[in-house]
Amino acid sequence: MKPTLHEHASACAKVILFGEHAVVHGQPALAAGLPGAVKLHAQPLGDARAPLRISIPAWDLELSLVPGDEHPVARACAEVLAHCDGPLQGWHVTGEATIPARAGLGSSAALTVSLARLALGPDAAITDVVEASMVGERVFHGTPSGIDSEVAARGGVLRFVRGSAPQTVSVPQPVRLVVVPSGVARSTADQVARVHRAIERWPLLARPLVEVLGRTAEQGEHALVAGDTARLGELSDLAHGVLAALGVSCAALDELCHVARAAGASGAKLTGAGGGGCMIAWPHGSDDEALVAAFARRGLVPLRLEVGA
Ligand code: MEV
Repeated sequence: MKPTLHEHASACAKVILFGEHAVVHGQPALAAGLPGAVKLHAQPLGDARAPLRISIPAWDLELSLVPGDEHPVARACAEVLAHCDGPLQGWHVTGEATIPARAGLGSSAALTVSLARLALGPDAAITDVVEASMVGERVFHGTPSGIDSEVAARGGVLRFVRGSAPQTVSVPQPVRLVVVPSGVARSTADQVARVHRAIERWPLLARPLVEVLGRTAEQGEHALVAGDTARLGELSDLAHGVLAALGVSCAALDELCHVARAAGASGAKLTGAGGGGCMIAWPHGSDDEALVAAFARRGLVPLRLEVGA
């Protein structure tokens, strides 16, 4: 049968609440999905032999899957489609995105999950979609833990340990969270390599730090389920300090954390690979107005979420 694509597919973005980087080294992490962050639509091209085109204006992304193209997005998309026995010619895939690319919110996993869904169809097993997404994620990030693809495909709040099936965490009372893009782009693979280097150079110091990050994910899960924003904040401050000690923060993220705390957040930390990307801050209780206003005054546009909604 001729390879084909389904008309529409979508995937979640992700916000890692606790345990980024530690999850690469076997520790638990806790993450939440942002539904519908990437939506793809497929239409046949007039010329069935023309290379498949991908256009996502929100990311300034416009490319064709020409064989031998070394562009990482082209390579990743071609590998995902080939893995799914999907077409590499004769289609135009257009996309809408509500999150910035390369900002620590899982844009590449949202793209590869939705592309896998276009090829495999709406009834595909989640495990097959995640497996296909991981083929693309390896092109982008080398040896990803898999958390981004799992959250992109499943959504909700997930507890994830590398190599095990993710567990859904049910949050009885949704908790507000403010996500602020720093505007600084960075490479996840480079950030992951920094932590590997820290562990190689200082194993007796860096390994315990990674374990502490895993424990913040366990404690953070209890605090989230209890709706305890004070403890979520304290744990975030602690996690940010440890991530900075491992070398994956940067001046812009440290500054955003200070702004959040000064504006009344119970605590703040980087999210995702760090080195740029986004910061997350927990407002006290459910009032995030002061926090959002503090960032708006600096010309930044925070995303407001309800974790567990
Ligand atoms: C990137 O979104 C999260 C990291 O932990 C890398 C990974 O889990 O593969 C930094």
